[in-house]
Amino acid sequence: MADMPSRKRPERRRPSEHIWNLEEEDRRHIALKLRESTSQELVALKMNLGVIKQSDARLGPQATKALAECLTLADECAHEIHSFSHWLYPPLLEEFGLFSALRRYLEGLRKRCGLRLQLTVDDYMQRERLPKKLETVLFRVAQEGLSNVRLHSGSAAAEVELQRAANTREALLRIRDHGCGVPAKVMRAIETGRTAASGYGIFGMTERVRQMGGTFRVETSKQGTILTATLPLPTKRKSAPAR
Ligand SMILES: Nc1ncnc2c1ncn2[C@@H]1O[C@H](COP(=O)(O)OP(=O)(O)OP(=O)(O)O)[C@@H](O)[C@H]1O
Ligand SMILES: [Mg+2]
Repeated sequence: MADMPSRKRPERRRPSEHIWNLEEEDRRHIALKLRESTSQELVALKMNLGVIKQSDARLGPQATKALAECLTLADECAHEIHSFSHWLYPPLLEEFGLFSALRRYLEGLRKRCGLRLQLTVDDYMQRERLPKKLETVLFRVAQEGLSNVRLHSGSAAAEVELQRAANTREALLRIRDHGCGVPAKVMRAIETGRTAASGYGIFGMTERVRQMGGTFRVETSKQGTILTATLPLPTKRKSAPAR
């Protein structure tokens, strides 16, 4: 008798590389719009509120209180737009590359979340720019990996390593925490190639890395979790021999 296909939960459709690219473009577009347009409009709003506050207009106690609240709200919105647009598309990534963007991102997380974070980057990765897509995928893995540390692990500290792997043909990004570990149910889903039981993050990281020809590994225990993404580096073209 022929083997019957096992009854699996239906998988989520695997998004194509084309869709990831569109998503990155959308993120970039929204981030720029927020930074260049919405932020500027908020600055104008705050200036106008400031003018009203400084003016001689006699405001009753209620209006004075409402004006103070508007100024606070405008400040909070400006702060949120700044954080969100940086999260969507970090400005340093395009201009200064992965190392600078990661350093800045970790600084922000340290301040905002009080996580103890250590970043170790070898000379090669500090010096060299990688193709844009490779830098973007590695940055997204760090972003999602650290978001999981913060939300799920309970760990107060994490280490991020970025280096050229020993075989020199791959980039290696590793994120290690000291938390509770990934639940067995989620690990089974990852190991059997099904989409993660609860969320989209690990699935998204795995797919992005796989589409770039790399591998993504999750090792976990009660002592913590290690994520390792390994991605092929572009081969340098040999320069033409001198005539
Ligand atoms: N570092 C970690 N430590 C402990 N558990 C983790 C860690 N990372 C992931 N998990 C567990 O694996 C699950 C799946 O993670 P995943 O990132 O795929 O989804 P999510 O974080 O729940 O949602 P999303 O990323 O879509 O917002 C999490 O819900 C959590 O239970
Ligand atoms: Mg997640």
